[in-house]
Amino acid sequence: MRPGEPEVLIPEEEILRRVGELARQVSADYEAAGELLLVGVLRGCFIFLADLSRLLAIPRRIDFMALAAYDQEAASSGAVRLIMDLRTNIEGKHVLIVEDIVDTGNTLEYLMNLLLPRRPASLKTCVLLRKKERLEKDVRIDYLGFDIPDLWVVGYGLDHMDRHRALPFIGVVKTD
Ligand code: IMP
Ligand code: MG
Repeated sequence: MRPGEPEVLIPEEEILRRVGELARQVSADYEAAGELLLVGVLRGCFIFLADLSRLLAIPRRIDFMALAAYDQEAASSGAVRLIMDLRTNIEGKHVLIVEDIVDTGNTLEYLMNLLLPRRPASLKTCVLLRKKERLEKDVRIDYLGFDIPDLWVVGYGLDHMDRHRALPFIGVVKTD
């Protein structure tokens, strides 16, 4: 391993096993719903959403939103800004937000507040990683992959200053 390269926190096989479990759970829960709209939150969600959506056994559509923190530093500042909205009108639809990671919960809270007034038939959340110790907001996560410690993680779609997104595992970088 080169110095400064991420160390493995969650290996690839473990992620894929867990994503398979989440997909089975989501498929069972939405079987009667007719159709599910997966809303991916760019950019961090792209690999998780790709894997999850392909493992679902129910009819689904996919749309994306792009958000960014106002402060482009590694640490979450709290303020969130909408960069790209959905194309889909979600009124009356069953919507599942797909997020890479919940840290303070600000982003997820912002999203819920943005989407709920659009009157979806249901609105739930599917999150791969949660830093439990850091949570400040009372946001509901309906489907959770893993709880992780308060570390900056990369890989499987997640970045540190736009690097390491394509790593197949979840790794830890030293941010200092
Ligand atoms: P929150 O609004 O504080 O919950 O932060 C959520 C967003 O911050 C996520 O959607 C990520 O984009 C980013 N984020 C938080 N922690 C990490 C991390 O450890 N690695 C990569 N991105 C992170
Ligand atoms: Mg994200």
